Amino acid sequence: MGIGERLLLSAIDVAKEYGQEVVTLEVRKSNESAQSLYDKYAFQRVGLRRNYYTDNNEDAVIMTTPALSLPMFREMVAERRARHRQRYPDLWA
Ligand SMILES: CC(C)(COP(=O)(O)OP(=O)(O)OC[C@H]1O[C@@H](n2cnc3c(N)ncnc32)[C@H](O)[C@@H]1OP(=O)(O)O)[C@@H](O)C(=O)NCCC(=O)NCCS
Repeated sequence: MGIGERLLLSAIDVAKEYGQEVVTLEVRKSNESAQSLYDKYAFQRVGLRRNYYTDNNEDAVIMTTPALSLPMFREMVAERRARHRQRYPDLWA
C-alpha cells in the first residue's frame, strides 16, 4: 500500500539532510519484494555478508544507492516521489 516506499523516501531525505553520501543496507537474499523496492531506487548489489541472519544463517545482500548528490539519482528520486504522491496522497497528508 505504498508504506515501504514512503519510508524509503523519508530515509533518503534524512540521509541527505545529514550530509550522507549514500544510503546502504542489508537485505535477506530471499527477500525479493524488498530487493525489488531497492532496485526501483537504483540500489546496487555491492557485497554479501555470509550467514548474517542468526535465525536461519541466511546471507545478507548489501545494497547501496549511487551518490545522493548525483543529478541523475536526484532526478530519478524526484520523479518517483511525484508518482508516489499521486498514487498514495493520504501518505503525504
Ligand atoms: C518490503 C517492504 C518494505 C515493501 O513495502 P510495502 O509497503 O509492502 O511496498 P510498497 O507498496 O511501498 O511497494 C514499493 C515497491 O516495492 C516492491 N514490492 C512491494 N511488494 C512487492 C511484492 N510482493 N513483490 C515484488 N515487489 C514488491 C515494488 O517494487 C513496489 O513498487 P511498485 O508498487 O511500483 O511495484 C514490506 O513488504 C515489508 O515491510 N516487508 C517485511 C519487512 C522487510 O522485508 N523489510 C525490509 C528489510 S531489508
